[in-house]
Amino acid sequence: MKFIKVDTYDKLSSIAAGIIAAQVILKSDCVLGLATGSSPLGTYSKLAEKYRNGELDFSRVISVNLDEYVGLDGSCDQSYRYFMDNNLFCNINIARENTYVPNGCAEDLKAEGLAYDQFISKLGGIDLQLLGIGLDGHIGFNEPDEAFVPETHEVVLDPSTIEANARFLASKDQVPTKAITMGMRSIMQAKRILLIANGAKKKEILEKAFYGPITPFVPASILQLHPDVTVVYSEN
Ligand code: GLP
Repeated sequence: MKFIKVDTYDKLSSIAAGIIAAQVILKSDCVLGLATGSSPLGTYSKLAEKYRNGELDFSRVISVNLDEYVGLDGSCDQSYRYFMDNNLFCNINIARENTYVPNGCAEDLKAEGLAYDQFISKLGGIDLQLLGIGLDGHIGFNEPDEAFVPETHEVVLDPSTIEANARFLASKDQVPTKAITMGMRSIMQAKRILLIANGAKKKEILEKAFYGPITPFVPASILQLHPDVTVVYSEN
């Protein structure tokens, strides 16, 4: 694992955008695994800047997102599809039909999860997976549990995750309580992983995840078993 500590969110975002940009330049038809949350916002805006400057071409890139809230469709401004469309996809030249987010409105979420995994595997897997980390150690929406779940699956969100995500809504009651998330298999099979964490509040969970025991009660700890992980952390 490569651990890069910087002193500002701006530097974190520049480094993360640089790593993703290098991936797109080296393999123009790469599969990017993308994440939501507040942490990637700076990275996405720097990628858009690089696109505007003519440094990057996303026309052949395929993206697969980690997760989506159950019951929210892309027209809802709290959905992760909406987040991606508005914070990244509309600012770069990726073809919208090449962007994939699990369908949180699918009637059969189990079948949706299975199809999502099969699709990723048909693409040849993810070249570079961007991750954030929740305060309870979740990645995507893989919450602490008795076992790591390999498949894309439906999850009941942890009360602490609902609390943390309430900052994006008027009240806690508006945060959906369920989500569909990519499971650990597709994440762990990604060729490279880039995890970004911002703010002193993430320090303790990073220590547990990367220097503590590997346990499903700290989902991100599974990343200790991945051969190519870069963590970029800014305390401020
Ligand atoms: C949500 C997302 C995660 C993200 C986490 C952390 O729960 N499902 O993918 O990593 O938030 O968000 P933030 O970066 O805002 O701390």
